[in-house]
Amino acid sequence: MGDAMSGYSCVDHGLVDAILERYPREEPSLIQVLQDVQRAYNFLPCEVLTRVSRELGVPLSKVFSVATFYKAFSLTPQGRVIIKVCTGTACHIRGAPLLIEEVQRRLGILPGGTTEDAAFSLHTVNCVGACAMAPVVIVGDKYLGNAKAAGLAAHLTRGE
Ligand code: FES
Repeated sequence: MGDAMSGYSCVDHGLVDAILERYPREEPSLIQVLQDVQRAYNFLPCEVLTRVSRELGVPLSKVFSVATFYKAFSLTPQGRVIIKVCTGTACHIRGAPLLIEEVQRRLGILPGGTTEDAAFSLHTVNCVGACAMAPVVIVGDKYLGNAKAAGLAAHLTRGE
């Protein structure tokens, strides 16, 4: 059985094939390719990074160093909805810690974590430039200003 599984891959290589088609096979394409891979897979799968390294002729160590340098990239699978709680000074003072606790309590995950059903990931972020509406929580691409713990529940439901 082990031999039969040796060529098995968990990722859809069709997605990375399509991405690689769009760019010149050279090192300057690296960040754009990684951005597209992140968008397509919702993270940067290890075997896709190996493929990108080979196709663009960039050493794997360099691919990993770029992948780990930028916060927009993740090496672990992310939830379909990413929740970002701003922990900048204004948001911290206005209650960000309570918001983080509320999300943790409702979803059972810590910052950096993803729910088992891959519905949600929770992250803390630095100031997102919307201090006037602090505290700020971003759910997917929706900004929630003056966020209150009690008001978060409506945004944390599955299967919308
Ligand atoms: S500190 Fe949260 S938006 Fe600036």
